[in-house]
Amino acid sequence: MKLEKNVLKAMNEQVNKELFSSYLYLSMSAYCESEGFPGCAKWLKVQSEEENDHGMKIYHFIHERGGRVELEAIDKPKTDFKNLSQLFAQVLEHEQKISASITALYETAIKANDYPTQIMLQWFITEQVEEEKNAHEIVDLLKKVGDSPVSLMMFDRQLGARVGK
Ligand SMILES: [Fe+2]
Ligand SMILES: [Fe+2]
Repeated sequence: MKLEKNVLKAMNEQVNKELFSSYLYLSMSAYCESEGFPGCAKWLKVQSEEENDHGMKIYHFIHERGGRVELEAIDKPKTDFKNLSQLFAQVLEHEQKISASITALYETAIKANDYPTQIMLQWFITEQVEEEKNAHEIVDLLKKVGDSPVSLMMFDRQLGARVGK
């Protein structure tokens, strides 16, 4: 079963979105590192690598299905943030956008009667539930933390416990 043209186009766009996510989280990681939050920087760097894996998952799938990946330019990510609360609120917002994009892609695959793509995307749908939950938890935690330096330091240590590959 060949990839339909609009499914292929939407998948190529999703590769770009995942790679942009990776770039955005790396940019956020750089900000945290320079602001003296090494734990947050680590969390975001691990997240950046995960996003690259997401992009590559779709990349390989396109080729397995006989399609061709066409890479587009990656947008410049934001480099400056007001504080950690604003930064993680933007992580949550971004993940919500990605979830919507995955849902739209799934709908495109349904319209094309493309079952293999639907099955592949089910993994992403589950993953997005997890991503939104994680971001929500961090945003909520930061509300409790407030802006006392000691609590922020403890928060940073907690995020730094995230294990990478
Ligand atoms: Fe992703
Ligand atoms: Fe994840």
